[in-house]
Amino acid sequence: MTAQQTELRVLPSDLKRELLPKHVAVICDGNGRWARHRGLPRIMGHKRGVESLKQLLRTCNDWGIEALTAYAFSTENWKRPQEEVDFLLTLFQVVLRSELREMMKESVRIKFAGNLNALPTALQEQISDAMEETRNNRGIKFTIATNYGGRQEILSACRAIAEKVEQGLLKPHEIDEATFESHLYTAGIGDPDLLIRTSGEMRISNFLLWQIAYTEIYITDALWPDFDRDEFYRALLSFQKRERRFGKA
Ligand code: FPP
Repeated sequence: MTAQQTELRVLPSDLKRELLPKHVAVICDGNGRWARHRGLPRIMGHKRGVESLKQLLRTCNDWGIEALTAYAFSTENWKRPQEEVDFLLTLFQVVLRSELREMMKESVRIKFAGNLNALPTALQEQISDAMEETRNNRGIKFTIATNYGGRQEILSACRAIAEKVEQGLLKPHEIDEATFESHLYTAGIGDPDLLIRTSGEMRISNFLLWQIAYTEIYITDALWPDFDRDEFYRALLSFQKRERRFGKA
């Protein structure tokens, strides 16, 4: 590794390790616009988007961030042109296949959050193999929200809890925040400290509705394929200046 590469792996000196977010979530928006600005097909934006996500994962791992959650495919994304949906689903498979070795080397724990049953069977199998293979890794927890919708997640948790109540396994008064959380797709991952959205849109778009109750939000005009290490550094600097009160005075 060159000296410059080693330097990039070290936390920049003006970021305080003790004030880093433990869990970062990202809404990867703007792939289509990035491609359009270059006169390229939208799918080229998604290809470049994967590169941005890989770089962010590496940076988070290098800088000691414990969890990264990325919104890759929403329940609404099925409404895109069939060609684009097919490309995205194939891209997930290709990337999972090509990156799994590297993620094992970096000790990444991969998790997928969403209604996975609706995905193509081959992708479902790859997802469960990747989760199983990386289950005992001790590095960063990398969650890819795929066919994910926050409202759908809450409804699915409600249904699962109601079934337990119906079966007499749970009493209504026993349903607390911890019980509820353990029925979410993101069970065990915890709430994000920082949510980043690219491409300047001021929306949550049905992402992690339960989990972001006290999350700090950072919005940048950068399009997702342009979201690089410097952009992330700026998001962290902004986060470190915030005073988090969690509802207290
Ligand atoms: C939003 O941009 C992006 C997506 C719907 C796809 C996001 C996917 C990735 C970043 C790749 C993830 C890959 C893996 C393997 C996890 P947009 O198409 O909505 O852009 P626009 O708003 O400019 O049209």
